[in-house]
Amino acid sequence: MQTLQTTPHLPPAVAAETSAQDDAPQRHRSWVPVRSLTSRHRDRLREHLLALEESDRYLRFGYAASDAQIQHYADTLDFERDEVFGIFNRRVELIAMAHLAYAPAPQIEGQPPMAEFGVSVNRAARGRGLGARLFDHAILHARNRRIRKIFVYALSENTAMLKIARNAGAAIERAGSESEAWLTLPPNDLASQVGEIVETQAAEWDYHMKSNAKRLHDILGSCLLDRSNA
Ligand SMILES: CC(C)(COP(=O)(O)OP(=O)(O)OC[C@H]1O[C@@H](n2cnc3c(N)ncnc32)[C@H](O)[C@@H]1OP(=O)(O)O)[C@@H](O)C(=O)NCCC(=O)NCCS
Repeated sequence: MQTLQTTPHLPPAVAAETSAQDDAPQRHRSWVPVRSLTSRHRDRLREHLLALEESDRYLRFGYAASDAQIQHYADTLDFERDEVFGIFNRRVELIAMAHLAYAPAPQIEGQPPMAEFGVSVNRAARGRGLGARLFDHAILHARNRRIRKIFVYALSENTAMLKIARNAGAAIERAGSESEAWLTLPPNDLASQVGEIVETQAAEWDYHMKSNAKRLHDILGSCLLDRSNA
């Protein structure tokens, strides 16, 4: 089961071959910008995770993580080695995040490089495709870093997470209350590389637009307050 350590837990053997992502049914969702996060966002990540209810912490980490454990997880996230992605709303609040943890070398002998995916979406923002969007984005990034497999630990009761993985073409291995989803990725190509560049630029642009709009809104708000107090 997924832990709160930065280093992903790699099982001793890789599960059965998965169906290729290219064969997965294509779903049409509106495009949502996903931004790569850095250590500058640590506070916001912590805040987002601490806001998860106990049942969600259980689903996210495999046990009902305490505030201290979440704090530790956020404090030790390795932004150099791993990829952390976020989705921001119009008020530039972090409403969803995903962690793609790359296994440190050496990985499992004879197996292609792998990464572990973990995700959480604010309750108020669920059911809008954000979880699936973050998974798709993680797949693109992983392909371009020559990762050949993504795996997700999920409780078997976690229908939404397993659906996201299954929709992307992952094979699900169930062992009682726990499940593993394994997805074999196609190699990177020109389209995946250009796709990542375009996504990154568009997400940066979107973030700056939202930040500027928020700043303007805050300034106007304080001006109006000053006038009404005058
Ligand atoms: C799992 C989680 C990330 C899903 O996020 P989300 O943004 O609500 O998911 P999406 O809107 O992208 O939905 C993905 C799929 O799951 C389905 N789904 C969403 N919520 C569901 C639910 N409660 N029950 C059943 N299916 C559900 C959607 O219909 C969609 O399937 P479809 O595309 O075939 O219609 C979110 O519920 C969450 O943060 N849970 C707590 C943390 C967690 O469980 N993390 C995963 C383990 S690492």
